[in-house]
Amino acid sequence: MPPKSQQKTTTLRVLRGAVTGGKLVQRTQDFEVPYDATTTVLHALEWVKGEVDGSLTFRRSCRASICGSCAMVVNGRSRLACKTKIADLLEGNASKNIASAEETVGEANVVEIAPQRNQPVLKDLVVDIKPFYEKVKAIVPYVQEGPEKEEHVTKDSFSQVIMVSNCIMCGACYSDCTAMVENPDFIGPAALAKAYRFVSDPREGNKTERLKELSEKNGVWDCTRCGMCIDACPKGVAPMEAIVKLRSLAIEAGITDNKGARHAMVFKDDIATWGVLNEPFMMLKTLGVAGSIGQLGNALNLAKKGKIPNPFPFEHKVEGLNEVKAIYEELKKNPLDVRTKAADSGPGAG
Ligand code: SF4
Ligand code: SF4
Ligand code: FES
Repeated sequence: MPPKSQQKTTTLRVLRGAVTGGKLVQRTQDFEVPYDATTTVLHALEWVKGEVDGSLTFRRSCRASICGSCAMVVNGRSRLACKTKIADLLEGNASKNIASAEETVGEANVVEIAPQRNQPVLKDLVVDIKPFYEKVKAIVPYVQEGPEKEEHVTKDSFSQVIMVSNCIMCGACYSDCTAMVENPDFIGPAALAKAYRFVSDPREGNKTERLKELSEKNGVWDCTRCGMCIDACPKGVAPMEAIVKLRSLAIEAGITDNKGARHAMVFKDDIATWGVLNEPFMMLKTLGVAGSIGQLGNALNLAKKGKIPNPFPFEHKVEGLNEVKAIYEELKKNPLDVRTKAADSGPGAG
């Protein structure tokens, strides 16, 4: 901490909690903490624990963005406490993708700290990481012998392996994952990034087998491509990019007998043919007749709101349709190598 004469102070608003009688009871508690340009969230929490309230509970180990244990929700986003500076949170820092406290919290001099999401809280900022680890452990963690092993390893093909190998298992992507909120059984971004590490490895002998498993329920097709995991990851792993590539590789391998792959293929065909989507037929082709009947309730709700999709999109002239068709023709003649094509980025990529 800086000398007293140079210190500014901020309010650390911590969401604390404990399980009592099997029920989690949470409350916020404010602490006035000193900080300077170098103070991180972890420094501030350590100061509170040492100087004000020794019962404040959080995880940390390396203090150097290596162990992944200090991930928590800071001003609404999952971040590593030891990597996140108080000054950046208060004032904002565009180069680190951090908005100011005024924009995120609504108060200028406040830092809000909460436990990670999508995992049960054990005490204060400590969550039960078992479900997250179990999902990561479900991915076979070694290169397997098998018929698809490639003879040559190129620098380009191995760059994919390196990118996803930077994961430190902090769970920030898992905590900010929007698909996980709706479906807690979704395997999640970190596990899928790990899976891509092996599928993209030229030495892996069972790529198709892995892709088949990943294409099942709760796998690659359950991701909503919101991009939150790319923003959250402190190590640049970009799990959503790995997921998009796994999907493309699964379709290339002919693993298409599932709703996700059918939806992606119909989507592509509609755009390549009409330049717009034919939503009623897309549902029919994706879900089949029985599945579409199950969606009638949703369709009626949409109709009540006046949102009835046009089943005849070809009635509308789409500007630039010839250019769109030309792009698809070119891709047919010269397909991209999914593994080594330029990185996708942001929501909607792929
Ligand atoms: S892109 Fe997919 S995996 Fe990543 S946070 Fe969004 S839903 Fe989760
Ligand atoms: S992919 Fe990134 S955010 Fe997710 S667990 Fe690994 S390091 Fe953390
Ligand atoms: S304490 Fe290890 S990553 Fe923050």
